[in-house]
Amino acid sequence: MVTDKMAQALNEQINAELYSAYLYLAMASWAGTQGMRGASSWFFVQAREEMTHVWRFYDYISSQGRQVILDAVEKPPADFETMMKAFEETLAHEQKVTGLINDLVATARTENDNATAIFLQWYVTEQVEEEESVGEIIDQLKLAGDEGGGLLMIDRELGTRVFSMPADLAAGA
Ligand code: FEO
Repeated sequence: MVTDKMAQALNEQINAELYSAYLYLAMASWAGTQGMRGASSWFFVQAREEMTHVWRFYDYISSQGRQVILDAVEKPPADFETMMKAFEETLAHEQKVTGLINDLVATARTENDNATAIFLQWYVTEQVEEEESVGEIIDQLKLAGDEGGGLLMIDRELGTRVFSMPADLAAGA
């Protein structure tokens, strides 16, 4: 069983992942109102993925015989101004989450909790992928431009992203 300190830190991360889902859901709706259907769909997929991050923590905390304690989720912004700013905010947010995951790994080490350190490796890898994919979108926006035909082209590509439920979560572990 995880220590009290570890359980609390894991619970706090559930709140951070819920906020991530909230933030991307807000971005999805904002992008939709800007006529950016592809970006809206991309952010909606991102929000759904964040919910799988919540469930993965939920499952782990439960498997450790601990209760999931939910806290209030902070209100996200509603206006993201431009597509470039929305993705820059996405990258900044993911970098912050990476820091939180690293803090959790550090806590697992100080608590001598090898099981949690191993569990967290999935998130370490996931954060590398998330930062990389958002960084690529920002690069494309810089190249093609944050308006007009270039933006429409990127929007179309963003719309091709699909959500797929991870097999271990789909099984209702
Ligand atoms: Fe759950 Fe985007 O990190």
